[in-house]
Amino acid sequence: MRTKVAIIGSGPSGLLLGQLLTGAGIDNVIVDRVGRDYILGRVRAGVLEEGTVGLIDQAKAGARMHAEGLPHEGFSLAFDGRDHRIDLSALTGGKKVMVYGQTEMTRDLIERREASGALTVYEAANVLPHDFDGLKPYLTYEKDGSTQRIDCDFIAGCDGFHGVSRKAVPERSMRTVEKIYPFGWLGILAEVPPVSHELIYANHARGFALCSMRSRHRSRYYIQCPLTERIDDWSDDRFWDELRRRLPAHHAEALLTAPSFEKSIAQLRSFVAEPMRFGRMFLVGDAAHIVPPTGAKGLNLAASDVHYLFSGLVEYYQDCSDAGIEVYSRLALARVWKAVRFSWWMTTVMHRFPDAGDFEQRIQEAELDYLTHSRAAATALAENYVGLSY
Ligand code: FAD
Ligand code: DHB
Repeated sequence: MRTKVAIIGSGPSGLLLGQLLTGAGIDNVIVDRVGRDYILGRVRAGVLEEGTVGLIDQAKAGARMHAEGLPHEGFSLAFDGRDHRIDLSALTGGKKVMVYGQTEMTRDLIERREASGALTVYEAANVLPHDFDGLKPYLTYEKDGSTQRIDCDFIAGCDGFHGVSRKAVPERSMRTVEKIYPFGWLGILAEVPPVSHELIYANHARGFALCSMRSRHRSRYYIQCPLTERIDDWSDDRFWDELRRRLPAHHAEALLTAPSFEKSIAQLRSFVAEPMRFGRMFLVGDAAHIVPPTGAKGLNLAASDVHYLFSGLVEYYQDCSDAGIEVYSRLALARVWKAVRFSWWMTTVMHRFPDAGDFEQRIQEAELDYLTHSRAAATALAENYVGLSY
């Protein structure tokens, strides 16, 4: 088989890139190691920047998002038993974020792709990129007992943190930077109306908590937990009790509970691989970088990478120019590092670190006080949260 762009991975970055390319008349094939149902069963991010919303619209997959998604103009920072509202729109000249689950966005993109007739190969084993340092790269994979080959002009490695594309790059050609945080997030989904119509990011002596949502009747809640916690030790009742303790009293009293239908623990880490281009292979999204989820940036960074790569590929095919693909890695990484910084900062301000002494604790309190009393400080938070421009 031959295509122009072979995409490894049918997550948000692969699907978004695939749909934009298809819309521009550029042939592409997506290959994923798991099946469609498995992909649609993954519960992850929930907050989309305006830039991400714009790209989903450009991919013609935005209709349900606009009908069912919840535009938010602010969120609450809760500490000292009180809410302190960050008015995103007032601080950023009218910008908003869209609360719409990654699972739903993925479903919309998959449905668009199916309607457009573009090919996705699911359940492909042992996917491997080859010869990307030359002019004729190709992918191989195993399916139905035989080895298949896709010849292409370019390979897009959209296969997440544990994928094969980054691993296929020789170590000497890549620099990686990593920071592991000494705690995780225990998250649940439950079919109950959210405790508040806006997100609540809570800093409490017992640890961080986040109240988010997927719709007006479905809530997504997280609490900071030690990395040693086991999911089986967390009954729903224990989770609800712990969440209540970390929220201001009026929220704790208003919290509605129900049996959870998803419960998982995620580790928090920052990771960046540089550069993001190796000859005719590009790394995109989580394949190249991971941020801790506190700033809601992971999915949005995957989208901004797609924006830069799509522009470069359009320039290549429509204008016969390499200029856009030459600058992909530099432009994407400049934005990635700002999101890495913001996610680290927000994680540091909102969590209780096991090794923090009095000094670190008092600095954190001063930072929160500054944020809620200085328009300049709140503006810097809001500008990053709604997303820096591309
Ligand atoms: P992925 O979504 O990881 O997609 C990669 C795709 O590649 C998958 O479909 C996978 O099956 C496929 N693949 C992997 N390996 C191979 C292979 N060898 N061969 C072929 N295909 C392969 N971000 C937030 O902003 N907020 C959150 O709350 C949040 N929670 C998260 C929770 C978890 C458990 C995880 C893992 C991530 C979370 N993120 C969150 C981050 C966000 O979900 C990611 O940034 C986003 O999914 C990145 O999209 P992607 O397409 O680059 O990678
Ligand atoms: C969600 C996750 C986040 O990491 C975040 O900062 C905001 C919302 C969510 O899953 O809804």
